[in-house]
Amino acid sequence: MILAESVTVLKELLKKSVGEIGFVPTMGALHKGHLSLIKESKSKTTTTVVSIFINPTQFNDPGDLKKYPRDIESDLKLLDNILSDNDIVFTPQADDLYSFENPVIPDLGNLDKVLEGKHRPGHFSGVVRVVKLLFEIIDPDRAFFGQKDFQQLVIIKEMVRRLEMKIEVTGCPTLRESTGLAMSSRNKLLTNNIRSKASIIYKTLKNHNVITDPGKICETSSAIIKTIDSIEEFRTEYFEIVNDKTLESITKESIIDPSAKYYGCIAVFAGNVRLIDNVEFSFSFAKG
Ligand code: PAF
Repeated sequence: MILAESVTVLKELLKKSVGEIGFVPTMGALHKGHLSLIKESKSKTTTTVVSIFINPTQFNDPGDLKKYPRDIESDLKLLDNILSDNDIVFTPQADDLYSFENPVIPDLGNLDKVLEGKHRPGHFSGVVRVVKLLFEIIDPDRAFFGQKDFQQLVIIKEMVRRLEMKIEVTGCPTLRESTGLAMSSRNKLLTNNIRSKASIIYKTLKNHNVITDPGKICETSSAIIKTIDSIEEFRTEYFEIVNDKTLESITKESIIDPSAKYYGCIAVFAGNVRLIDNVEFSFSFAKG
């Protein structure tokens, strides 16, 4: 693999690359979930670019940015094991990267105002800013994102559509620990005690993800929140079941769109670590 620490070096390397470019943006602290995105990129393209950049503009809380896990040495070792000689690892500095910004951000309607957007104001403007900038610099044919960050994936697909970028955005399945806990860089911040209890999030979502009666939507949501919050150190920030295209939350009055998928999306404080997850929900009553 080749290390590019500046935009100029990266651009020079990309000029020489042949074939399709696959891009995996990351904020480092890599785990098996990231590695699965990289493997997917390698199987579909000739050159894979992995960026490692903890993007300050997407952190609405400076404390969160400060404690975000960083382990560049071990990230580079992991990448060296799976990348080929022509693949590129891009580790820019904020000043350098943002000096190339064309600061025109598309309007994303309601997509960035709900769920995470409501609880982390400004988060998605930061994500869209940096991903758009990275897309403009790298100009990949394909880009790979984890389904765990479900809303981020929906937003990036919409950004690409609105800006008419010629990039195929692929969502890759969430990888889970054997307990069911979704893999995340933030898991590194959990104590062993809390980590062992955090499997409750996925288990609870899975136990409730078939809804047989529209009247039970509210009851189901309350049951999920109650189960998770019954663990002493756990507090659910939100749980909503949303349409995967509009991100509209469903209620008992909603008409289920048979062409959409529905995901139960949750954010939970496990001790002082904020975890997010999502699971597909189905409605047996919609089939008649
Ligand atoms: O999902 C992430 O790690 C980040 O939001 C991303 C896409 C790398 C942008 O900073």
